[in-house]
Amino acid sequence: MAQPEKPSAGPLMTPSNQTVKVGLGKRSYDIVIGPGSLHRMGEYLQSLGLSGRVGVVTNPTLARLYGASLKKAIGKAGFTCYFISIPDGERTKTLRWVSYIVDELVKHRFERRSTLVALGGGVIGDITGFAASMYLRGIPFVQVSTTLVAQVDSSVGGKTGVNHPSGKNLIGAFYQPALVVSDTNTLQTLPKREWLSGLAEVIKYGVIADKSFFGFLEDRMEHILDMQEKDIQTVVTRCCEIKARVVAKDERESGLRRILNYGHTIGHALEALGGYRKYIHGEAVGIGMVHESLLANHLELCSKDVVDRQRALIQRTGLPVRIPAHSFSRFWGAMRHDKKVAQGTVHCVLPRSIGKVQVMPLDPRTVRRWYAQFS
Ligand code: NAD
Ligand code: GLY
Repeated sequence: MAQPEKPSAGPLMTPSNQTVKVGLGKRSYDIVIGPGSLHRMGEYLQSLGLSGRVGVVTNPTLARLYGASLKKAIGKAGFTCYFISIPDGERTKTLRWVSYIVDELVKHRFERRSTLVALGGGVIGDITGFAASMYLRGIPFVQVSTTLVAQVDSSVGGKTGVNHPSGKNLIGAFYQPALVVSDTNTLQTLPKREWLSGLAEVIKYGVIADKSFFGFLEDRMEHILDMQEKDIQTVVTRCCEIKARVVAKDERESGLRRILNYGHTIGHALEALGGYRKYIHGEAVGIGMVHESLLANHLELCSKDVVDRQRALIQRTGLPVRIPAHSFSRFWGAMRHDKKVAQGTVHCVLPRSIGKVQVMPLDPRTVRRWYAQFS
């Protein structure tokens, strides 16, 4: 599906906000990061040259916390604002709820120049982006991301979609937002478990691409856990810079973008084996990173120090690091179901050092020998 040229943005910087650009030619966009940015949404939409109707897709939790502020910010800039509320949770990420969003857009006579705004975390962002990609063959959409996972990962890069009964994220489209607004103040209300889940993705960026950022996380983890504003802004900004650079080089994941899946091959397997109830995503990714680095050490790709530093940092956040016992056949079976499997071969991102990874096909016999200690 061809994506329409994105509206042009104006200057979005304020002293407390930072902007990261995702460079994708005519579909480039800004990520605005900082406390209170949500209150400037009306100006941002104006600076994109948008006008008319704005549909805010959200859930009751976010509507209660931030709905009124967002409505005020959008309304005072002259937009007509409609709220489209869908139930909270991963189970809403279905075609049925995409259809509901489209019904609401039709009902309120949304046009090609109308805009969809996703107010929420990755679930709301993924479903809203997908609805925007389909409605009238594509209308502009803006991500207002309110979880750490969304601010450092899901709102950036244009992966949109919903789940199918047989698997997560099986239906979707690459469809870039016109703008991402990450108000770091919203993280204050995030449940602790969700916040820590996002930290696993943050640590991931250090391992895959930036040794000095990993060192920063080691130095400042207590301050980050204490949610000190300056540190949070640094964290979100650096993660977005790394992701933006990767996406600009490989938007459709034909090569480099695969490094973003570090920790996810084992992580996804653990989520599936736990019936998507035992772990939330970042918890499984944290265990996945520790064990993918242990596997890399077993394959003599990296030193023990690479494993130890990651494990120590993840442990300091309070995230789990131990792998639960499963038989090898169940474990390997779950890894083979990952959608990143190509022609039956499981590919995994493995670290060489802190800041450098490579994608490797896995030989099941080697993995079985290594895994024997955990089963
Ligand atoms: P989420 O969207 O389910 O949000 C987690 C919970 O926190 C929800 O109950 C939500 O209502 C609540 N919440 C959100 N913001 C809040 C706030 N500021 N204050 C209080 N409560 C708040 O979870 P998530 O981790 O953001 O996203 C997970 C989803 O993202 C998954 O569906 C995953 O597949 C997807 N994802 C997509 C990408 C991508 O590139 N598109 C990347 C990573 C994850
Ligand atoms: N979350 C992985 C990616 O965006 O590619």
